[in-house]
Formats: sequence, structure tokens, C-alpha cells
Amino acid sequence: MLFDTHAHLEDEMFDEDRDQLIRELPEKGVAYVVNVGSTLEASRMSVELATQYPFIYAAVGIHPHEVAQMNREALDAIEAMAKRDKVVAVGEVGLDYYYDFSPRELQKEWFDWQIDLAYNMRLPIIIHDRDAHADVLDILKAKKDKILGGVMHCYSGSWEMAKYFMDLGLYISLGGPVTFKNAKRPVEIAQKVPLDRLVIETDSPYLAPTPYRGRRNNPAYVRLVAEKIAEIRGMALEEIANITLDNAKKLFKIK
Ligand code: NI
Repeated sequence: MLFDTHAHLEDEMFDEDRDQLIRELPEKGVAYVVNVGSTLEASRMSVELATQYPFIYAAVGIHPHEVAQMNREALDAIEAMAKRDKVVAVGEVGLDYYYDFSPRELQKEWFDWQIDLAYNMRLPIIIHDRDAHADVLDILKAKKDKILGGVMHCYSGSWEMAKYFMDLGLYISLGGPVTFKNAKRPVEIAQKVPLDRLVIETDSPYLAPTPYRGRRNNPAYVRLVAEKIAEIRGMALEEIANITLDNAKKLFKIK
């Protein structure tokens, strides 16, 4: 059985078949999904999905893309949601310098605030880092006493950098890109990451693994990510599945 640590099943791309698709996940080998917030509304819907389905858990938070649209009251709303049942993390939070949809200074402020929020709620953080590795690391290092675990979601940085993130107690999550034909960095990470630091994800509906690249992703495809990592490491799929499931349960404190 597999644990998809990062999906956005509230996305409108699932509007037509969401319930059926989710109900079929257990028979496709998916035991757990963390549905991750990006806006206030998406965070609310994450909590809603976690209420509705026993194997879905929720993360609540504001994505760096969205922070320019937010006021401080949004932070209070996230805090209130973080207290709800089955909310296991604050996320996704972080920095995105690839798209720069929000001013960088504002992204940093919100990242900082949401780390504090997670600390106050005693929750781990789900970190989005795109082309901002050095600044993400700087902020995390400066706040390391306030980090109660977390994960580098769909990690795309170097192995050198990954070691610093792991030193801060963070897990490294690999997704669809590790299966892509030209993948280099994620493959190196898959080879080198200590097995007790590795978790897997889909980031559905985005980043579908090969052979579904470019199409809608869904949590059942997390199996293709696990298969690729198993192949890279010369291990059995079941081993990678079991190890990453146990790690994710520890990360999100799921009994
Ligand atoms: Ni995401």
C-alpha cells in the first residue's frame, strides 16, 4: 500500500469525477493521501475532503503564488482550520522564484509567518521551493528551533542542498519528475537519499509521471513514482512502498 503525501484533489480538474476517483483509490493500492491547501478556499476544501474520506488527511496553508492576494486575516483563518480534526500539516508554504506571481519580500514574510503558525499548532510544514533553494534554506536555518518536522515537496534541488534540508530534520519527497526521460537531479536524489528520509507524492493534478506526462495526474499514479525509485535503487516495489508509507505516517504523526 502507498502513501501519496501531496495531492490537490479539490482542484476543479476533478470536479466531474472526484468522488468516484477517490473511492477507487484503496483498491488501486493507495492507503493514505494528504490533500494540500494552496488558497483559503482550497484549504477549506482539503479539510472537507478529510472529513468525508477516512484515508484522506489535510494540510492547510497559503501557497507563495497566492500571498499577494491575501491579507493578515487569512492567517487567522488558516490557524482556525489548522485546529480541525485530521489536519496534519501546514502547507504548502515556501518560495517560488520561477513564476514570481507574488513579490519575493512578501513571499518570505508569509513563509516566515506560516512557519510560526505551524510551530504554534505543533504541526510539520510542507515546503514548496521552486528556484529559491538558497533563500528557503536561509529562512529554515534562521527558524530551525521552530520547525517541528516537515517535507521538501517535489524536491528539485541538488543532493548537496538536500543534505542541509535533512540536517534540519526534513523529509525529501519525490514525485512524477523522477520518472521523466531527462530527469537528472531527482534520479540522483532517489539514488542517494537515506531511506528513512524519503517520501513520495503525486502533486495531482499536476506533474503526472511517465507514461501519463502532460495529462491529469491522480494519487493512484504514485505507484509509478515508487516503481521508478525501486528500479533506480534495485529494490522491490513493496519495500519502497512500505518504507515511504511508514516515513509519511511518522512525518504526519498518523497512528
Ligand atoms: Ni502542490
